[in-house]
Amino acid sequence: ALSFAGGAQAQGYPTKPITMIVPFAAGGPTDIIARIVADNMSKTLGQQIVIENVAGAGGTTGITRAVTAAPDGYTIAMGHLGTFSAAPATYPGLKYDPINGMQTIGLAGGTPILIVARKNLEAPDLKAFVAAVKANPDKFNEAHAGLGSVSWTTCTLFKGILGTPKINAVAYRGTGPALNDLVSGQVDFMCDQIVSVAEQVRSNTIKAYAIASAERSPALPDVPTTKEAGLPDYQIEAWNGIAGPKGMPKEAVDKLVDALNKALNDEGTKKRLLDLGTVLPTAEERTPAGFAALIKRDADKLTPALSAAPKQ
Ligand code: MLT
Repeated sequence: ALSFAGGAQAQGYPTKPITMIVPFAAGGPTDIIARIVADNMSKTLGQQIVIENVAGAGGTTGITRAVTAAPDGYTIAMGHLGTFSAAPATYPGLKYDPINGMQTIGLAGGTPILIVARKNLEAPDLKAFVAAVKANPDKFNEAHAGLGSVSWTTCTLFKGILGTPKINAVAYRGTGPALNDLVSGQVDFMCDQIVSVAEQVRSNTIKAYAIASAERSPALPDVPTTKEAGLPDYQIEAWNGIAGPKGMPKEAVDKLVDALNKALNDEGTKKRLLDLGTVLPTAEERTPAGFAALIKRDADKLTPALSAAPKQ
């Protein structure tokens, strides 16, 4: 039994380490964002957040594991535009419902999308690349992180604008491993989140044709926007954020929200995120309701295009 002698309170959440599932391979964008914010959140919470990479099925394996875990606050996940907004339209038998069946915590960061290619691909710019892909689609290999992932989703939209050319697609357990193959020239291109490609673009081990945002990124000021590069219709904002199972104690939700917010206000954490091109979330997006609204808005936006898209 608990003793309240002297007004002491029972020790509150968290009393042991928290597992944060990253539904992709280590070294990719979701893993990078998760490790940066979890590092600082652990300090606020006074308990370690342990990252567990559970890859497979475009991230849906790991998210299923996280949101069907006991809702005690000790299992959460870093998901993203793919697993939370695109997966329901991609997987008819999906075992979780991002809109009604999980507890959102908050957005960790916006992750602009870049069309990147192996360094020695001939096309010098986006217009030439688009023309080459349209002329000979079967000569190109696209890397992605599985159906419903951000890379798959955003390249599906890109190819949709080009008239859905039949390009060979190669699925990886995350764009971290895909990036290794892009650097070594085993695959030709991908649509990836800025945080994992920024350093490779800066060091010229791969090339970036364009960023699919309204404005250039301060992290890669030389990369033109899709509008500047001649493909103004290709605009898509990706993001990564934290959620857990529905039914978590309010105390756990409140403390996780507070820890995320403190991490995003911490100068060192902010610098690490901004150097990689992350867009810091607004105050509203850092709340469970604000993040849930973003998931729903993007699901509504993506569902028509993805339901009709070839699943390859
Ligand atoms: C990853 O961490 O590998 C990515 O977020 C994969 C993706 O969704 O493209």
